[in-house]
Amino acid sequence: MTRVFISADMASVALGADNIAEAFAAAGCDVVRTGSHGLFSIEPLVEVEGEQGRIAYGPVAAGDVAAILAGTHANRLGRVADLPFFTAQQRFTFGRCGVIDPLSLDDYAVHDGWAGLHTAREMAPAAVVAVVRESGLRGRGGAGFPTGIKWQTVLDAPGPEKFIVCNADEGDSGTFADRMLMEGDPYGLIEGMAIAGHAVGANHGYVYIRSEYPFAIRAMQAAIERSAGIVAPFILEVRVGAGAYVCGEETALLESIEGKRGQVRAKPPLPAHAGLFGKPTVINNVLSLAAVPFILREGAAAYAAVGYGRSRGTMPIQIAGNIRHGGLYEIGFGITLRELVEQVGGGTASGRPVRAVQVGGPLGAYFPPSMFDLAFDYETFAAAGGLIGHAGITVFDDTVDMAHMARFAMEFCAIESCGKCTPCRIGSTRGVEIIDRIRLGRTRSVDQDVATLRDLCDTMKYGSLCALGGFTPYPVLSALDHFPEDFGGSAPAVAAE
Ligand SMILES: Cc1cc2nc3c(=O)[nH]c(=O)nc-3n(C[C@H](O)[C@H](O)[C@H](O)COP(=O)(O)O)c2cc1C
Ligand code: SF4
Repeated sequence: MTRVFISADMASVALGADNIAEAFAAAGCDVVRTGSHGLFSIEPLVEVEGEQGRIAYGPVAAGDVAAILAGTHANRLGRVADLPFFTAQQRFTFGRCGVIDPLSLDDYAVHDGWAGLHTAREMAPAAVVAVVRESGLRGRGGAGFPTGIKWQTVLDAPGPEKFIVCNADEGDSGTFADRMLMEGDPYGLIEGMAIAGHAVGANHGYVYIRSEYPFAIRAMQAAIERSAGIVAPFILEVRVGAGAYVCGEETALLESIEGKRGQVRAKPPLPAHAGLFGKPTVINNVLSLAAVPFILREGAAAYAAVGYGRSRGTMPIQIAGNIRHGGLYEIGFGITLRELVEQVGGGTASGRPVRAVQVGGPLGAYFPPSMFDLAFDYETFAAAGGLIGHAGITVFDDTVDMAHMARFAMEFCAIESCGKCTPCRIGSTRGVEIIDRIRLGRTRSVDQDVATLRDLCDTMKYGSLCALGGFTPYPVLSALDHFPEDFGGSAPAVAAE
């Protein structure tokens, strides 16, 4: 019986993968549903197992079964691993995604699964923390805080009960890596969490997943059930969010798991000292935790050998928006924005010139093409007035109105604000009003209103309790700095300090 591999990832299903899988099953094939490899322009993708390995065809339709099985389909791509989009990647975290049946314990074990956990459990907890520290791994959720130092704090915190919390809220626009990992390789995340549990002395973990990810929720629940005996005594549970962006902020997330309204807690205490239910808690992003099995399996040096400056290892970068080849691209830090947009992404889908790229989700800065030679690295982006965040890059062509995008940032903040502090709660609404005045020509002086807007951004940046209010100025100020012509008047080129 011919074996074919078809992704059951949410993005592939949205493009018709289920119908295609049914058509192959009806034709008598053995259909294996995998996660997605992450190149959406070739989805729905079908791989047919043969003597030369798995030969890919994509994009395809349900009516193409006969041509694909005969090997005559026009969209025959050869082996996925040989496609230029994949050859340069370093898939430390996503190596199994798109390759294995996500819920098959046999597949997972054959593809290096549980090797990191076995290694970790033969080591003392402090030694495991030391390996993670030496790897240079930094939090992939946005702030880039060193994971090993966070774990060390929880290990050192006194108390019989500690928790591991995985932040799978993934609220940033243009990001989907957490979802892809949970759907395509859920045991990889479970293994990372079990290693974290051993390292800090926690026996209980929670995965907090946004409600908009029904496939990921199902995959994680099934994988947790099937692997319970392997990770025991570590116990895992899924908690589903109710749809607030701010619940991705770690303390609001903890409130939400505790059954309260998702509102940000003042720090200190840090979650590492008093987190979930007041107990010492490791809270990490999906990608941070899923990177850990590789580090324990291959060693800290193998991970740290890749990267740029103080940004070590690989980053699963998500390319979205107006782009020809959108998808997930895992590579060591240091690649430039130009390479990502022009070579990997192939330019805009509309065929028009690129005007701006927003890096780091809704709180990230907009960069013009003149800044595309920036290396993808935490420090480089911070020095350029931006952030890497969760590594989502959203591309816009020359039809974008940057004053509109600045308004969108302020409006997003106004809608998603938890309301706890004044700069964010009130400032974002005032920000929308000022930008509306400018855009609709209801201002007496554009220059005066732009100066007020900059002043407001300054207050939000330095006076907000968390990064929702504190980082909203990044998209606004970068739009003002790099695209002043969209605001009219003679907007000054440099933000007031
Ligand atoms: C408004 C807001 C939203 C956030 N959303 C997320 C999110 O969806 N996922 C995430 O991992 N981190 C998010 N963060 C960052 C978390 O607060 C926290 O830094 C992260 O979960 C820590 O994990 P890491 O060290 O592995 O990155 C958000 C922060 C803020 C201020
Ligand atoms: S900055 Fe906004 S989201 Fe953060 S605590 Fe203040 S009001 Fe809440």
